[in-house]
Amino acid sequence: MIILKSDREIEKISVACRVVVGALKELKKEIKAGITTEELDRIAEEYILSKGAKPAFKGYRGYPATLCTSINEEVVHGIPSKRRLAEGDIISLDLGAIHDGYYGDAALTIGVGKISREAERLVKVTEESLYRGIEEAQPGKRLGDISWAIQSHVEGAGYSAVYDFVGHGIGRNLHEEPQVPNFGASGQGPRLKEGMVLAIEPMVNMGGAATRILDDNWTAVTKDGSLSAHAEHTVAITGKGPMILTIF
Ligand code: MF3
Ligand code: CO
Repeated sequence: MIILKSDREIEKISVACRVVVGALKELKKEIKAGITTEELDRIAEEYILSKGAKPAFKGYRGYPATLCTSINEEVVHGIPSKRRLAEGDIISLDLGAIHDGYYGDAALTIGVGKISREAERLVKVTEESLYRGIEEAQPGKRLGDISWAIQSHVEGAGYSAVYDFVGHGIGRNLHEEPQVPNFGASGQGPRLKEGMVLAIEPMVNMGGAATRILDDNWTAVTKDGSLSAHAEHTVAITGKGPMILTIF
């Protein structure tokens, strides 16, 4: 069942989203060669707690940290560690917070110092695909319109949309129905309605779509070792069109 949210609930989700965005802004300033992903995790957690919110991922199905830090060929769910960022890396920062019973969720991929032109293009296409998907988040359209908009943009650029992980509804739970795949057919799937709130999150691989999970049971990496990027917004479907709640 897809839970529709009232304006009041959307306002509450947007409060959680503002906390997430505030933390991601702080993190962006810290992204440089030499910093560890554990240090980034601590910054994120302190920021979230300082705003009277709580980390959404910590403890979720046993996930051990506040932030997901996925570097280079890591697709999603990289666990913060003593690893230091190096010049030329790309890192996805994925962060969720809960405030007053409602969740917000967002992710972005950032280059560390100077990155290759290929990596830059991957990050750009991933972001663009997110916005292509968001444009379809309108009452009367269908879920598959979002999925196809993402997939077609990604594949048109010569990359692969990841099949193994999907976006999701969000509200009083981090993950609600519907699942929001980054591939699919336009005109298919549930009809989109005012009051739906979706976390849309394309993961894009430079090579093949296949992923595997490392021995830590969390970190997803590309099977072929190719670079991967990720971008995510929490978006409300309203009578006035898509409303990005995790706006910077
Ligand atoms: N943005 C991701 C998601 O919504 C992050 C989840 S990490 C987890 O699925 F630890 F909470 F699983
Ligand atoms: Co998410």
